[in-house]
Amino acid sequence: MKRRQFLQSAAFIGAGTLILPRTTLFGANAPSNKLNIALIGTWGRGEAHFGSISTENVVALCDVNEEHLAFGARKFPNAKTYVDWRQCLDQKDINAVVCCTADHTHAFVANWAMNRGQHVYCEKPLANSVEEARVVRANFLKNKTKLATQCGTQRHEHENFNRVRELIRDGAIGELESVCAWGDRQIPRPGYLPAEGEPPKHLHYDLWIGPSPMHPYNPGYFKGGPGMNCLSWNMYWDFGSGQVGDMGSHTMDLAWNAIDPTLPTSAEAKGDPVHPEVTPVKLQMHFEHPANDWRPAIRVSWYQGKVFPENPVSYVDLTKVGHGAMFEGSKGFLVCDFTSRVLLPGRKGGDLTYYKPRPKDALLPPMGGFQKQWITACKGDLKTSCDFEYSGNMIEQMMLGLVAYRVGKKIKYDGAAGKVIDHPEANELLSRKYRPGWTLNG
Ligand SMILES: NC(=O)c1ccc[n+]([C@@H]2O[C@H](COP(=O)([O-])OP(=O)(O)OC[C@H]3O[C@@H](n4cnc5c(N)ncnc54)[C@H](O)[C@@H]3O)[C@@H](O)[C@H]2O)c1
Repeated sequence: MKRRQFLQSAAFIGAGTLILPRTTLFGANAPSNKLNIALIGTWGRGEAHFGSISTENVVALCDVNEEHLAFGARKFPNAKTYVDWRQCLDQKDINAVVCCTADHTHAFVANWAMNRGQHVYCEKPLANSVEEARVVRANFLKNKTKLATQCGTQRHEHENFNRVRELIRDGAIGELESVCAWGDRQIPRPGYLPAEGEPPKHLHYDLWIGPSPMHPYNPGYFKGGPGMNCLSWNMYWDFGSGQVGDMGSHTMDLAWNAIDPTLPTSAEAKGDPVHPEVTPVKLQMHFEHPANDWRPAIRVSWYQGKVFPENPVSYVDLTKVGHGAMFEGSKGFLVCDFTSRVLLPGRKGGDLTYYKPRPKDALLPPMGGFQKQWITACKGDLKTSCDFEYSGNMIEQMMLGLVAYRVGKKIKYDGAAGKVIDHPEANELLSRKYRPGWTLNG
């Protein structure tokens, strides 16, 4: 670089003080351009991030389970260790956070981190209530020019997400009318587990409960294998949102990515009888979404627990697709799962003459690794596929569906205000009550 160009790309502040652009001088992977990452939740899903964050400086580790913390520390021996994420996030050199805790603390960690100027990768589901989704999104939007965020729906990296979006946008099924997504997992639970024994010394159970109401310890909440333990606690209202937040985050993403939605104007749902302690296994939720600049108003639906949408034609059996989505348009259907798709241009006029496949050079480009996209974004343009606006809207819809399910009525929603318009009792369910000492937006 010539001296004049070099000086043009640098910035001066005050007399004689020169700020040098880091990437110009050192390159994206130079030691001086590494992120200082805190990993919160250092086992299970946390381990799935070891590879992607090990290119950076992992400076802090936090886990409420000291054995799991030691597991993380064996991989990242130079990191400081914590059992309370609130103390961890106050470590001054942290500039990026990966959160893999239980669902009921995701929004807390995400907000606290953004409020401290830290980039965030947060495992799905991003929030556990409508209010949590809104606060996380608002904090992101406030910091959008400074922070990169990504919600952990890593299946989004499959190229099928782009292909599905292109088919819908290019009109392969005509004008879009509705889309539904579903997941067939069933994890029935009778209710919170009874008290059984004392928490082991290495587990800070009170911190694990965190902001949620206290429930007695039972080893059953911790019996799952690495990366699967979430299934031991996520069916309980105070710890998760069942399959709505779990596989719902991944599978609704298939639909969400192709429809450019904002927030729904209504929600209705039905399923298993409402239980005060556990989330439903069988459930269907339906939402009305307003028109946008390329499609009319549409209906968006979620089905779970072996409740499926109606087959598009008798010889396509949706029950064979464990987790999938179906788009319905004026000229046909598109059925897909995470990695494949089937076009059914079977409706009146569905002769495909109206549809021109994109030339190869107009295809949406592959995103590369999903976690890597966030790391690159933190160091550069801050652009990610599943930032907290995109994913915040999606989880707000899903949490609103659970509110409609609990009140047992179709509810009208004002997304700008974050209020249910016609059933005041539903507004009580948009937020959660936290234990004293825990602040969502601290
Ligand atoms: N993206 C995916 O495909 C995927 C896959 C599995 C799990 N997940 C998500 O990852 C999260 C963790 O799931 P898991 O199965 O690993 O659960 P887990 O119960 O094993 O928890 C993971 C780790 O976090 C620790 N932890 C829990 N609460 C904490 C807190 N408040 N502070 C610090 N550490 C805490 C646990 O002790 C454990 O070591 C869940 O939200 C789940 O939905 C995502």
